[in-house]
Amino acid sequence: MKLKISKRAEKIKPSATLAISAMAREMTSAGRSVLSFSAGEPDFRTPACAARAAADAMARGETHYTATSGIPELKAAIAGYYKNRFCLDYAPSDIIVSAGAKASLFEAISVLVDEGDEVLLPKPAWVSYVEQVELAGGTAKTVDTADTGFVPTKESVLAALSDKTVGIIVNTPHNPTGAVYGENAVLALADIARERGLWVIFDEIYERLVYGGARHVNIVQAAPDIRDRVILINGVSKAFSMTGWRIGCALGPKDIIKKMDDIQSQIASSPSSISQWASVGAYAGADGETEAHRAEFERRRDILLGILDGIEGLKVTRPDGAFYAFLDVRGTKIPDDMEFCRRILEEKNVALVPGAAFLAPGFVRMSYACSEENIKAGAARIREFIRGLE
Ligand SMILES: Cc1ncc(COP(=O)(O)O)c(C=O)c1O
Repeated sequence: MKLKISKRAEKIKPSATLAISAMAREMTSAGRSVLSFSAGEPDFRTPACAARAAADAMARGETHYTATSGIPELKAAIAGYYKNRFCLDYAPSDIIVSAGAKASLFEAISVLVDEGDEVLLPKPAWVSYVEQVELAGGTAKTVDTADTGFVPTKESVLAALSDKTVGIIVNTPHNPTGAVYGENAVLALADIARERGLWVIFDEIYERLVYGGARHVNIVQAAPDIRDRVILINGVSKAFSMTGWRIGCALGPKDIIKKMDDIQSQIASSPSSISQWASVGAYAGADGETEAHRAEFERRRDILLGILDGIEGLKVTRPDGAFYAFLDVRGTKIPDDMEFCRRILEEKNVALVPGAAFLAPGFVRMSYACSEENIKAGAARIREFIRGLE
């Protein structure tokens, strides 16, 4: 007899990004030369100082449970980082370290969202936000940004508010569009949070990766008076090319962080001790590598845009941050993003992620966290594919 599964589990959808990456890997192992642009992770190696710190920690026997919310050394490193980078003071009790930013987000959402609550999400949206809000019993209400350069405006956010709205989840630099919210946009969100008594989950996991004249704006630095209603999300995954180590963090009001700690204590005990030490090493010594990665991503972005520019039917808004380009395929002969991704994978061996995975049908996401050679070949295949469509 089939086991009954919960309604909660029935509703949850697997990550479409990971599913496409898996499909591309399967095709590769079947001998096809697939160029995959679906990954959401930097392709660089973990900085040597982080790997060394992990090896040293293992040799010292730092292989046991740690404090649930993270080792003091890592919290001190995160606090020091926020002080240097954003002139913000966070005490160890305002910080929790989790197994990736995704886990920090889920814990924050679990603490803040009740059954029936509504949470605003600028759309396109990273789907894990939607799934996590729904797992907590809430409803995600989207705010469309496609006509405003993928940045929400005060008017569009206000229009989505209802008396059930409890908070807003913001991500800048943005996955999947690469948009970077300027100071005015961030201040407008802060105004709404202040005026309407909302909390803000501010996911700045890509904050080190901004290009050209773009500057990342931290909402607490820009509007210090709303600090008590903001949970900042960050981590080592994208900044230090350490996705597999699974270390993320949240910074926010003590009472919220304490509740997140309570949840974490029941589901994970603590993040990996060795990964935490690796992260201490990264914060201490990998700043130069992060800047080198940033510069390399910017160079690759420019190469990609140079090739995609001028393809008839394809519209690309220049991404100012993260490592994704979000291509508008609605003007091509295949305006359906799922069909576009399926056919280009089958016919040109190019793996892209359909915009539907980000609540944005008609768009496809292309990651440029891969070699220059692959970017050039992939973009050329996209051009060929679109031009060859009947
Ligand atoms: C917007 C955003 N937030 C959070 C995460 C999760 O990061 P981590 O790998 O640290 O869980 C990702 C990863 O893709 C992301 O794109």
